[in-house]
Amino acid sequence: MSSHRQDAVRRIAAPDIAARKGGTPIVCLTAYTAPMAEILDEYCDLLLVGDSLGMVIHGLPNTVGVTLEMMILHGQAVMRASKRAMVVVDMPFGSYEGSPHEAYANATRIMKETGCSAVKVEAGPAVADNIDYMVKRGIPVMGHVGLRPQAVMVDGGFKAKGRVGAERQQILDEARAAADAGAFCVVVEGVAEGLAREITQAIAAPTIGIGASVGCDGQILVTDDMLGLFDWTPKFVRRYADLRGEIGGAVGRYAEDVRQRRFPGPAEIYFAKAG
Ligand code: KIV
Repeated sequence: MSSHRQDAVRRIAAPDIAARKGGTPIVCLTAYTAPMAEILDEYCDLLLVGDSLGMVIHGLPNTVGVTLEMMILHGQAVMRASKRAMVVVDMPFGSYEGSPHEAYANATRIMKETGCSAVKVEAGPAVADNIDYMVKRGIPVMGHVGLRPQAVMVDGGFKAKGRVGAERQQILDEARAAADAGAFCVVVEGVAEGLAREITQAIAAPTIGIGASVGCDGQILVTDDMLGLFDWTPKFVRRYADLRGEIGGAVGRYAEDVRQRRFPGPAEIYFAKAG
């Protein structure tokens, strides 16, 4: 049997995303679980197993406590349930900043154990060399600039970025450095609208906006935010559903049926077979 078995559906790959610069906007969402990945796969070009899963799924206060093992477990679930979308797994805080070798070792572990197509790193000032090292050794890397959630402790919170001159230049430089180091696309999060457009024009890699600008080459949101699973969401989230209300309503009806002995009904129980 050939070792080059062709899958029935070809997964979107890093060069496909890179080639979309300036074209039809790239549709991205986060995915952390198999059932959600299965639903999103049909509609999205790229599924990000974001380290936001620490807050969204595990109830952590921020992403600092997320581990490689958590990312791998959720990455495996998303890969099992998706066929078409490119799956990118976030490298958690502390797994890629220290040195190019450490970044490479952890990225290869994520790729081998999940089967994902790329990793994402928050591309602060010290990370471009590590991106370069990984890309040159066969790892597609997505960058992430602007509001970098893993920098929450130095920033003192999740704050929009690039609204003043010096910070603006710094973010532009970081985006350029990530793209020049070979990132196949760059997430631009929580920055002033004009800056997101400037970054999009300045770099050859597609930009994926979140709280950025419609001028970016694609958009991403945290799926649970856009589905309305939380009471509070950042200003940049558009809610396309009210799943929190839907779930509350459904669970309330179930609770009432149980208390009133209306559940289970005849259609929902087993009867003994004759004989
Ligand atoms: O972790 C995450 O979900 C992200 C996206 C919001 C871009 O980094």
